[in-house]
Amino acid sequence: MALVAMASAKGSPGVTTAALVMGALWPRQVLLTECDPAGSDVAIRMTAPGGQPLNSDRGLVSLAAAGRKGLGDEVIMAHSQQLDGGLDVMLGVRSPEQVGGMGGLWAPLGITFNQMQSADVIADCGRIGASSPQLPVVQAARLVVLVCTATGSSVAHLRERLATLVHHVDARLAVMVVADPKQRDGVKQVWSVLDQMSVRIEHRWHLAYDPVGAAFFDGRGHGRLDRTALIRTASDIAAEMSSVLAMPSRHEFDMAQAAFPNEREGRR
Ligand SMILES: Nc1ncnc2c1ncn2[C@@H]1O[C@H](COP(=O)(O)OP(=O)(O)O)[C@@H](O)[C@H]1O
Ligand SMILES: [Mg+2]
Repeated sequence: MALVAMASAKGSPGVTTAALVMGALWPRQVLLTECDPAGSDVAIRMTAPGGQPLNSDRGLVSLAAAGRKGLGDEVIMAHSQQLDGGLDVMLGVRSPEQVGGMGGLWAPLGITFNQMQSADVIADCGRIGASSPQLPVVQAARLVVLVCTATGSSVAHLRERLATLVHHVDARLAVMVVADPKQRDGVKQVWSVLDQMSVRIEHRWHLAYDPVGAAFFDGRGHGRLDRTALIRTASDIAAEMSSVLAMPSRHEFDMAQAAFPNEREGRR
């Protein structure tokens, strides 16, 4: 199974909400891990089954202490917990001050997440840049999804960040725009800006900006979640994202092409 890293360039376009929604709709076993050095939002917004508070002592920091002796599915799951609704989560650091305690563990963590036997992993990596401590998690991912809004400044920052990240990240790249479903022209403009770049964006998704749906992932939901625009748009995206994640990595694909260069011609 494999790791998808979700991140933003600047601002707060809705990465945590999108990661929670993808996790809730994922068609296979999945673990959501909070790798945002700014601190955990899930611990504050969400609850354990029965509305109980989540255990904020169990998560990335307790894993970092235990994981120095070795990492694997069992260790990872021992430091995870379940949300009300059943999604498995690994809570992130409580505050940026705890990031120092992670030491050099981001890189082995990323590799372990990408190689878990029992689940895919969705990592909420928060804002990402070339010198972010959590960059190794993004580098270990099979798919990197950058989230932005359809505003000019969000797209400008995304462009700038993409131009830098391509030198550090080898994964398949996707962009998710969070925008009102009626704002199709604005979303088209984002795609045309990205078309003008030399960076290859393999997948493009439009997630609804929908305060009613988003409230469910902010601990304030009321009514039928399944009828919200957020869930309606997210269902198709989760299906597609999970099937992209099941595909070989770009590196594995290139290796296969090199080993069987005439395969495609031979099948014609
Ligand atoms: N798709 C969405 N539609 C409406 N509001 C959203 C959406 N995604 C996020 N929000 C709201 O925006 C705020 C920031 O969202 P969050 O997911 O924490 O962003 P980030 O992780 O990028 O900082 C929250 O109040 C959240 O409810
Ligand atoms: Mg966030």
